[in-house]
Amino acid sequence: MGLPLGIALASRGLSVVLYDINAAAVDVVNSGTLPFAEEGAAQVLADVVEAGRLRATTEPSSVGSAENLVVVVGTPVDEHLNPDLGAVPRALDRCAEYLRDGQLVVLRSTVYPGVTALTEKLLAGKGIGVDVAFCPERIAEGKAMTELFELPQIVSARNPTALARAEALFRNLTTQIVHLEPEEAELAKLFTNTWRYIKFATANQFWMMANDFGLDFARIRHAISFDYPRAADIPMPGFAAGPCLFKDTMQLAAFNRNNFVLGHSAMLINEGLPLYLVSRLEERFDLSELTVGILGMAFKGGSDDPRESLAYKLRKILMLKTRETLCTDPYVVDDRFTPLDDVLKRADLLVIAAPHADYANLDTDKPVVDMWGLTGQGVRV
Ligand SMILES: NC(=O)c1ccc[n+]([C@@H]2O[C@H](COP(=O)([O-])OP(=O)(O)OC[C@H]3O[C@@H](n4cnc5c(N)ncnc54)[C@H](O)[C@@H]3O)[C@@H](O)[C@H]2O)c1
Repeated sequence: MGLPLGIALASRGLSVVLYDINAAAVDVVNSGTLPFAEEGAAQVLADVVEAGRLRATTEPSSVGSAENLVVVVGTPVDEHLNPDLGAVPRALDRCAEYLRDGQLVVLRSTVYPGVTALTEKLLAGKGIGVDVAFCPERIAEGKAMTELFELPQIVSARNPTALARAEALFRNLTTQIVHLEPEEAELAKLFTNTWRYIKFATANQFWMMANDFGLDFARIRHAISFDYPRAADIPMPGFAAGPCLFKDTMQLAAFNRNNFVLGHSAMLINEGLPLYLVSRLEERFDLSELTVGILGMAFKGGSDDPRESLAYKLRKILMLKTRETLCTDPYVVDDRFTPLDDVLKRADLLVIAAPHADYANLDTDKPVVDMWGLTGQGVRV
């Protein structure tokens, strides 16, 4: 998220330095190359690097020369689903000796509620007189170069000066600014992702119900949402995964003393989907006799990002059950994958795990399992 933001700000004429501890990523960016897919960003990156408006560095002292410092480090939950409250403070701690009075520090990572206050305390405790703001990132991966300029920006800070400075920074990108208190904004971001995660879970459970009853959820969904605005946003079924929705729902659950029935139910439904899919397949096929091809390993269609992808969970389960499991993806790079043509030749059964448009019109006579409705054949499995 830091790179697209930096590219967007540089494209608006600001001078941007990206400080990162990953030296390999820094080298790639400095060569003017995008290290991952982000629509519309490659050419702009090449242009702003060439123009000298954006550079990356592993040098922590670089933060000292910035008027505005934006923190966008990852904020994962651990293996016990506990949020790491220290990710943002640790990142700032690493470069704290170079921070100076009068800077604006914007937290943009999705954080556990209270991390903004914790950061303010940490910096004040070190005697650093900076303004702190929390301005969450709400774009969807792949859409950064349009959404950064079109979505309203939530801006929050404890004092009017910090608020005005953060607003001025984001006015370089967007005209719509929404003010909140920091704690409200922290919850706003978690509510946003959790809301989406629960919506996907609802569609997935409806799909399983219809499916178990021998009915095609795609037909039912079409009927519900057709010219009916109150159900227009009901999603299609599919793997709800990736680096954000699951972990942010778990951050919110942890914040609410692990008392979040709706969020935990959404997790059980969404994370259980690969197992459901396999159990349905076991009713129809003797998997132990079959080679199964998984098409699409990214966490969502059109993406090259495999982080927290449920396609890998599906792979794990199928490897236990099948004669052989083959995986392929046109965008994700992984030595274990097989080219699509070989998968189409060798597999007896194909499962679309990421709805890449490439799979909408497959040239195959093998059965294709498509819970997404990508192939237009309904979603009964
Ligand atoms: N991925 C999304 O779609 C999305 C959308 C909205 C918000 N967010 C939030 O944005 C934040 C970042 O997500 P991401 O997907 O870009 O994560 P990421 O892991 O892809 O990127 C984080 C970057 O920070 C670098 N980093 C880690 N520790 C550092 C340190 N101490 N100093 C300097 N650099 C350091 C890493 O090397 C990496 O390049 C998370 O809080 C996430 O929840 C993500």
